[in-house]
Amino acid sequence: MDLQLTNKAAVVTGASRGIGLAIVSALMGEGMRVVAAARTITPELKATGAIGVSVDLSKADGPARLVAEAEAELGGLDVLVNNVGGGAGEGQTGGFLTFTDQQWYDTFDLNFLASVRTTRAALPHLSGSRGTIVNISSNGARTPHAGPIPYTTAKAALTAFGKALAEEFGPQGVRVNTVSPGAVRTDMWESPDGYGAELAQSMGLEQKQLLAHLPTATGMVTGRLVSPDEVAALVAYLASPLAGSTTGADHIIDGGAIKTV
Ligand SMILES: NC(=O)c1ccc[n+]([C@@H]2O[C@H](COP(=O)([O-])OP(=O)(O)OC[C@H]3O[C@@H](n4cnc5c(N)ncnc54)[C@H](OP(=O)(O)O)[C@@H]3O)[C@@H](O)[C@H]2O)c1
Repeated sequence: MDLQLTNKAAVVTGASRGIGLAIVSALMGEGMRVVAAARTITPELKATGAIGVSVDLSKADGPARLVAEAEAELGGLDVLVNNVGGGAGEGQTGGFLTFTDQQWYDTFDLNFLASVRTTRAALPHLSGSRGTIVNISSNGARTPHAGPIPYTTAKAALTAFGKALAEEFGPQGVRVNTVSPGAVRTDMWESPDGYGAELAQSMGLEQKQLLAHLPTATGMVTGRLVSPDEVAALVAYLASPLAGSTTGADHIIDGGAIKTV
């Protein structure tokens, strides 16, 4: 299927590994020109052929700098993928009373305000091109008890943000969609210093035991974690003109973990 994305311009945030890297690869594979942002430009990101921009998107001035560099490199913008996010530091498994103000601020900066600020900088370019935005939220936005409470509430805010943007900017031809993955096989779960490692330790399990039990424990009827490429394929479709009537929607990709309609 031709997704009709050839030569169009995209910005992807959180692009050096995991889901963001898979999205960059998918969009490059569709013949797009891509600016890819993270603090570290990894060899894997360089290998995609995308233009890497090193930037800390949790800082107030990072997103505007990214969009200015993207505009200079690409001369316009058709697609923005707000993927950056994740657990902000250690101490994510203790429950509500353990989270400090600073942890709430850090989590909202990374998972919500980075996308708000990038979107604010990019929208003038996107409305000129009748472009599209895809925000990467989490199925935790709909099951907020199932993860660290600052993270799931920040993702719930991001999902609501996408819906409101779709409504306000739809008349200008800008589509906005949210993609909400369940557990995806990335560093968030697999790294020895990520959320998966901390959760395993809090449960008295080996990390590999936790990963083996996670699909069943979270109700994933597919019996396995989601792969980053599967998320990327959904994002590429939503970025495509073929999805021209799909906007203001939250697309869950979680192996059937959420049981409600
Ligand atoms: N994995 C899952 O199970 C899962 C499930 C639901 C939703 N999600 C969401 O999917 C998105 C991607 O998750 P992932 O699992 O692929 O994460 P990941 O493997 O930890 O990758 C995170 C990416 O964001 C970049 N990043 C982190 N902090 C940054 C900052 N301050 N400024 C700029 N870039 C930054 C990282 O690069 P640098 O460290 O080099 O900056 C990296 O490229 C996140 O929004 C996450 O919440 C993930």
